[in-house]
Amino acid sequence: MGKTLLVTGGAGFIGSNFIRLVIEQRDDWHVINLDALTYSGNLENLADIDLNSRYEFARGDINNSELLDTLMPRCDAVVHFAAESHVDRSIMDSTPFVQTNVVGTQKLLDAARRNDVQRFVHVSTDEVYGELPLDDPEAKFTEQTPIAPNSPYSASKAASDLLVRAYHETFGMDTLITRCSNNFGPYQFPEKVIPLFVSNLLEDKQVPLYGDGLNVRDWIHVVDHCEAVLTVLEKGSAGEVYNIGGNNERTNLELTHSILKIMGKDESMIKHVTDRLGHDRRYAIDATKMRQQLGWEPTRSAWPNALEQTVQWYVDHTEWWQRVKSGAYAEYYDKMYGNR
Ligand code: NAD
Ligand code: TYD
Repeated sequence: MGKTLLVTGGAGFIGSNFIRLVIEQRDDWHVINLDALTYSGNLENLADIDLNSRYEFARGDINNSELLDTLMPRCDAVVHFAAESHVDRSIMDSTPFVQTNVVGTQKLLDAARRNDVQRFVHVSTDEVYGELPLDDPEAKFTEQTPIAPNSPYSASKAASDLLVRAYHETFGMDTLITRCSNNFGPYQFPEKVIPLFVSNLLEDKQVPLYGDGLNVRDWIHVVDHCEAVLTVLEKGSAGEVYNIGGNNERTNLELTHSILKIMGKDESMIKHVTDRLGHDRRYAIDATKMRQQLGWEPTRSAWPNALEQTVQWYVDHTEWWQRVKSGAYAEYYDKMYGNR
């Protein structure tokens, strides 16, 4: 018998890639996508599977306990992606981050417990560990690294991780936590650095590089991340944390130069702008536990190929990001970058 999953945030970047993967690779599983369709939720991301009989969409907020009680009785597991996910927005206003990421996660945990859902996978981030120094390139985040978030976004994710842990310890719930590094790939909202820079260049606009551009991120292809989450759902041990990373560290300056080269643009397209407040210097994941205990490794994240394919995806899907970048997003862009 196949499983029925409740996937929260399935209209966003990673959630939509996860739902597509599950529908394609588990042919007797059903997926219910619960998403509030905030600014970053977009049902176009799943247009190709919208009519699949094993897929269902429910529009709603994870804070709505009554709605959760109508959906959960049919579900074997929850895979929880829904979140406010952008660091810069959390610096402008952390209120929605606490409401969705902290309170919303608590509501979901309570509903899962009330409805005897068998497994709860909480999708978190390497940002809960804080930052690594630039002068110790061997240092990486392991699952034992202390939680030390620096932004309101990562603090809200860390708070939700602690609640998930506590529900396992207190109530014996079968919860698991994944902590992944920076994702890239199709359907990423163009406020995040790669789709922002690629789409700006396609519009012949400069790309705003924060500070000295030497901050390091560990890039993983979104489908590698989704396969890892599916692996944790199927094979992980209750109560455990699993780090997921791409073994692919780059400074933002290197990333920017690579994008400029792929797109045939020159350095004059870089606009050096004021740094992000509290900008974490470096993230890097040690994913040994995923490899040794669950047999997972990234297979799609190696550059330059994976980056070239992603840039090409945004070139081929200009209408997708143009629609996303119009309207409310345009106001955000002016507020964020207008006077920088
Ligand atoms: P995203 O912003 O693209 O998508 C978030 C989705 O959640 C949207 O569809 C939105 O409508 C939905 N949502 C927001 N608030 C909601 C609410 N209250 N109720 C129901 N739905 C709501 O984000 P993403 O990049 O796909 O990230 C997904 C998850 O993965 C997040 O939990 C994030 O912390 C985590 N993560 C992201 C990255 C990354 O690089 N993007 C890396 C590691 C972990
Ligand atoms: P982002 O995609 O926002 O992800 P995160 O903050 O979760 O790592 O940013 C990735 C890196 O790119 C980060 O070091 C900040 C930098 N950045 C810029 O230099 N300019 C930009 O306009 C944005 C959005 C990010």
